[in-house]
Amino acid sequence: MGRKKISIIGAGFVGATAAHWAAEKELGDIVLVDIIEGLPQGKALDLFEASPIEGFDSRVIGTNGYEETKDSDVVIITSGVPRKPGMSREDLLEINKKIVESVVTEVVSRSPQAVLIVVTNPLDTMTYLAYKRSGFPRERVMGMAGVLDTARFRAFIAMELGVSVEDIQALLLGGHGDEMVPLPRYTTVSGIPLSQLLPKDRIDQLVDRTRKGGGEIVNLLKTGSAFYAPSAGVIQMAEAILKDKKRILPCCAYLDGEYGLRDICFGVPVKLGAKGIESIIEIELTEEEKLLLARSAESVRKSIAELKL
Ligand code: APR
Repeated sequence: MGRKKISIIGAGFVGATAAHWAAEKELGDIVLVDIIEGLPQGKALDLFEASPIEGFDSRVIGTNGYEETKDSDVVIITSGVPRKPGMSREDLLEINKKIVESVVTEVVSRSPQAVLIVVTNPLDTMTYLAYKRSGFPRERVMGMAGVLDTARFRAFIAMELGVSVEDIQALLLGGHGDEMVPLPRYTTVSGIPLSQLLPKDRIDQLVDRTRKGGGEIVNLLKTGSAFYAPSAGVIQMAEAILKDKKRILPCCAYLDGEYGLRDICFGVPVKLGAKGIESIIEIELTEEEKLLLARSAESVRKSIAELKL
C-alpha cells in the first residue's frame, strides 16, 4: 500500500480548511482542485510551506485539472456557491447541481474505487445527485452534515452547562435543513442523560439553535457560510474511512428501506470504515420523533424532486 490520496474539489473556505486539517493529521497526500486559476496552486503551496514548521509530512498540490486526482482513496466535494444571507440552501440548488454533476463525472472516471464525501449544499440533495451520477455502490457515496450538526449541538450544550465538549455525545437524524431532528434522548454528558441536567425548555432552545446553526454563522459572516466546523466534520469522516476506524457517526446516506424510507439521501447513524458506509444503524424512535423525521424526509424529497433527474 502506497500513501493514501485525498482529493478535495473546491479550494474555497471549506475545501482549503479541510486540506489544512487533513495535512496536519497526516491522513495522506492531498490534491486541491478548483476552477479559479492559481487559487488551488497558491493555497496548496502555502500549506505545504507550513509543513516544515508544523512538522507534518503530507504532500499538498493544487491544480485546475483532474489528472492529479487519479486513484484517490477519498474525494471530498466542496465545489459550489455558498449560502449568502437571505438565501436558503434550496436557492443554491440550481447553481450547485451543474457544478456537482460535472465534478462527479471528472472524479469517478479517474478514481473508480474512491469514497465520495459531499459537502456542497443543499447537502442531502447534492449527495443524492452524486450517488446517482457516480454509479458507485451506496457504501461509497455519502454526505457530511450530521457530524457538523451534532458538533453544533454538543458545543451549545457545553457552553450551557459550562463543561468540556469532550464529555458530550449527541445523535441526530434527518436532512441538513431547518427540519433536522436532533435527538436529546440520545444525548448524554459523560453517560448522564441530558434530561437530568437541563430542563426541557432549555433543551428545546438548544435544539432550535442547532437547527438554525448554519444561518447563525451566515448572519454573522454576511459574505459567506461556516467553514471551520464543516471542514473538521468532513475530515473526521475521511479519517474514519482512511484508517478503517469503524466509527459510528451521523452521515447522509442513501436509504433503501431503512427507517421506512427508500430512494432518498438522509442523515442516519452509520458505521464508517475502509469500505465507506459499512452499515446503517436503525435506532428506536418515539412517535413524536418519527413524526419529526417524516417531516424532514418530506422536505428533502421536495428538494430532490427539484433536481428533475
Ligand atoms: N469545479 C471546481 N471548483 C469549483 C467549481 C467547479 N466546477 N465551481 C466552483 N468551484 C469552486 C469555487 O471557485 C470556490 O473556490 O468552489 C469553491 C467554493 O468555495 P467557497 O465559495 O469559499 O465556498 P465554501 O464556503 O467553501 O462552501 C462550499 O460547502 O458548506 C457548503 O454551502 C457550502 O455549498 C457550499 C460549499
